[in-house]
Amino acid sequence: MTTSTTLFPPEKVNIPYATRILTFAATAWLVVATVGQWLFGLYILLFYGKSALTGDFERWNNVLPHGYVEGDWKGNTIVSLHILLAAILVMGGPLQLIPAVRRHVPRFHRWLGRLYVTTAIVVSTAGLIMTWTRGTIGDTTQQISISIQALYIISFALLTIRSARARQVARHRAWALRLFMVVNGVWFFRVGLMGWLLINGRPAGFDPETFTGPFLTALSIFTYAIPFSLILLELYFFARTKQNKALSLVTAALLFLCTLITGIGIAGATMGMWLPRL
Ligand code: HEM
Repeated sequence: MTTSTTLFPPEKVNIPYATRILTFAATAWLVVATVGQWLFGLYILLFYGKSALTGDFERWNNVLPHGYVEGDWKGNTIVSLHILLAAILVMGGPLQLIPAVRRHVPRFHRWLGRLYVTTAIVVSTAGLIMTWTRGTIGDTTQQISISIQALYIISFALLTIRSARARQVARHRAWALRLFMVVNGVWFFRVGLMGWLLINGRPAGFDPETFTGPFLTALSIFTYAIPFSLILLELYFFARTKQNKALSLVTAALLFLCTLITGIGIAGATMGMWLPRL
């Protein structure tokens, strides 16, 4: 084998230039999103985890209107499960998508995969119970939208396990990515909201007291009920299958734009929401 064939295996040489840009754009988004997810995970561990360890659950009420309710042990257990297990999802999700982890520690990937899927189902079910029994901030549209998202999460989690058990690798990968997108709906919502506040410098298009208004209605519909992230993922799958140069470049441009917006949102959420609460 010559040096040139070692360095540039044939399959790499033949990858069209537009597809490489598309892969690069998707990787750029994933790297930025991973940083943002882990910051959210750190916030969950340092704020909720630490106060749970010290038994100071009342501190949760500084940020959650329906966090800890004196005497309601059932409701409090559900809220605790929901929030503390959420850390597994935000910390573990990006790890599942790193190719080197899958390649070098496949047993860890399988173990974390089972934990992730089970946790996603438990956290969403707890979220549904919290939304419809304890109430939450926002209006009915927001509650219906996030409930639809819970149904996506539970269905995609089951489809991810089914395809893995059937050893349908391509299908498993697609369902796992769809699951990752919907599990992160709550993260997209926070990042979208805080990015919007950072850009506008004030709560534009909604009332911060009632947490309602056209901006929040649109944000909840397009992050939860009709998730934009899922539409973009399907476009990415389509562009990769079609191998059409123009389509790949347009999709890559959209992904670069989303990377920028995601980065702004992460900065807004970290500075405006997560850091001040610690
Ligand atoms: C599966 C991914 C999810 C994660 C990672 C997650 C994470 C969280 C976190 C960290 C909080 C605490 C709020 C904060 O400090 O920002 C929270 C609160 C909450 N979540 Fe989730 N969540 C998820 C899904 C859901 C779903 C699907 C629902 C509803 C169907 C839901 C309903 C709620 C409710 C009602 C609260 C309390 C808000 C309040 O008291 O007003 N969550 N969630």
